[in-house]
Amino acid sequence: MHEKLWFVGPNPVSVFFTSIDAKRIPYSIDTQRLAAIQAPVFWLFSQSALWRQPAQSSVFQVLSSCSFQCRQLQWIRYMTSNLKKIALVGLGAAAKNIHLPAYKKLANLELVGGHDPAIEPSSTGELSFPVFPDVRSLLDQTKPDILAIASPTQFHFDLAEQGLLHGCHIFCEKPFTTTLDEARQLIDLAEKQKRWIVVNNEFRFMNIYEAAKEKIGSPEFGDLLFINAQQNFYVNEKTEAGWRGNDPQRTCKEFGIHVLDLCRYFFGEEPVRISARMPKPSNPTGPDYLNLIQLEFPGGRTAQITLDRLTRGRHRYLDLRLDGTKASIETEFGGNVQFTAGIRGGDRKPFVDFDISLGGRALQYNGEKARKIASDPLDIFANATSKLLKNLIDAIDNGTVPACSAQDNIKTLALMLAAYTSSEQGEPVPFAEHWA
Ligand SMILES: NC(=O)c1ccc[n+]([C@@H]2O[C@H](COP(=O)([O-])OP(=O)(O)OC[C@H]3O[C@@H](n4cnc5c(N)ncnc54)[C@H](O)[C@@H]3O)[C@@H](O)[C@H]2O)c1
Repeated sequence: MHEKLWFVGPNPVSVFFTSIDAKRIPYSIDTQRLAAIQAPVFWLFSQSALWRQPAQSSVFQVLSSCSFQCRQLQWIRYMTSNLKKIALVGLGAAAKNIHLPAYKKLANLELVGGHDPAIEPSSTGELSFPVFPDVRSLLDQTKPDILAIASPTQFHFDLAEQGLLHGCHIFCEKPFTTTLDEARQLIDLAEKQKRWIVVNNEFRFMNIYEAAKEKIGSPEFGDLLFINAQQNFYVNEKTEAGWRGNDPQRTCKEFGIHVLDLCRYFFGEEPVRISARMPKPSNPTGPDYLNLIQLEFPGGRTAQITLDRLTRGRHRYLDLRLDGTKASIETEFGGNVQFTAGIRGGDRKPFVDFDISLGGRALQYNGEKARKIASDPLDIFANATSKLLKNLIDAIDNGTVPACSAQDNIKTLALMLAAYTSSEQGEPVPFAEHWA
C-alpha cells in the first residue's frame, strides 16, 4: 500500500492528498472524511502561521482528533517557502475547465477565494473555496500574492488595476485588455507597484508547441521559413452561447490571438506587416467567422493563417505546419488512439502505425518519414496554464522575467487589433516598425 502524504491548507475544509511516489492526485476531501481515513500519514502545514501556532488552529484540532497514525511531522521547505496564495475572479467556463484544474497541479499554490457577480457567496454549489461578494473584500480578507482574472475581457482592466493596487501580481486571461491604451496604463501601474502581469496565452506552454520551438534552429530542422495554421471550427448553439456569440470580433479576438502569439513565439521576432481579410458571406453584421490572415516576417518568411468557422464539415481545432530548411513539423489538437495502415501517397510504400496522443501531438517529417516529437495530456489547456503559472511563481521567487509578461503580450494584443484594422481598411498594416 502506498503511504499517504497529507497536505493541509489553511482552510480546514480543503485538504489535498498526494501519494508519496510523487504521482500526485489532486483530491479534495472534507474533514469528516479525513477523520475516517486509517492509513499511515505524513502531515504538514502549508502556512507558516499555522505552523507557529498549530495547537490553536482549527486545522490542528481536526487533525488531532483524527484516528490516523501520525508518523512524521515535518516542514518541507521547498513546499512552503515559496507557497503562493491565489484568488480568482470570474468563475465561468475558463475558471472551471482551465484555472481550477491548473491550480490543483501546483503544490505550492493555494486558492484562497474567488468572486463572480453571478454567484451568491451563500450558494457556491460545487465550489470548494470561499466566494466573496465583491473583489475588494476578496482582496482585503485573503491577501493573495496573485490575482487571477477569468472574466470577459471588458472587465480585465478594472480588475487588474484593483489587484495591482492591492499589491498582487496579476495572472490575466487573454485578450489582455480591450485597447492598447488600457494595456499601457496597466503596464505602467505594474512597473510602479513592482508587480508582474502575465497573460494566459498558454499555448506556448503546450508540450507540442514547446517541442516545435526547441527544434527551430537545430541541425535536424534548420531555420523556420513558413507557418501554415488552419482551424475548421464547427459552431453550434453551445459554442456561441453568452457574450461571445454576438461579438463581431469573435474569432480573431477570442482564438486568433493564440495563433498570432504562437507565430511571434516561433519566429522570435515581430512581423513586418499583417494583412487580414474577414469576409462575412453569411451574416454581414455578425461575427468574423472567416479570418484569412498573412504575416510577413523579415527575409520573406511568412505565416498563413486560416480560421474557418463557416465550415459545416469536420471540426479541427488547430493544425499547424512549420516548414524548416531541413524538415517540417506538423501539430494537431485532439485525442488520438489510432491504429493506421495503408500505402503512402509519395513513395507508394506500405505502412502500419499505432499512436496514443490524448490532447494533441507533434510530428516531425522528412518527406514521408514521420517521427512523433511530443504529445499533450487530455487536459491540454489546464496543463499548459499550470506550466505558465509555475513560470510566473518561479519568476517572482527568483527575480526573473516571466513568460507572457504584459510587456511582451501587449505586442500580441496589438497584432490582433492590427488584423481587424487591416480587414477594415482593406490593406496591409505595418507592424514591426512600431513594435520591434
Ligand atoms: N486561455 C484560454 O485558453 C481561454 C479559454 C477560454 C476562455 N478564455 C478567456 O477567459 C475569459 C472568460 O471566458 P469564459 O469562457 O470563462 O467566459 P464565461 O462567460 O464562461 O465566464 C465569465 C465569468 O465572469 C463573470 N464576470 C462577469 N463580470 C465580472 C466581473 N466584473 N468580475 C468578475 N467576474 C465577472 C461572469 O459572471 C462569468 O461567470 C475571457 O477573457 C476568455 O477570452 C481563455
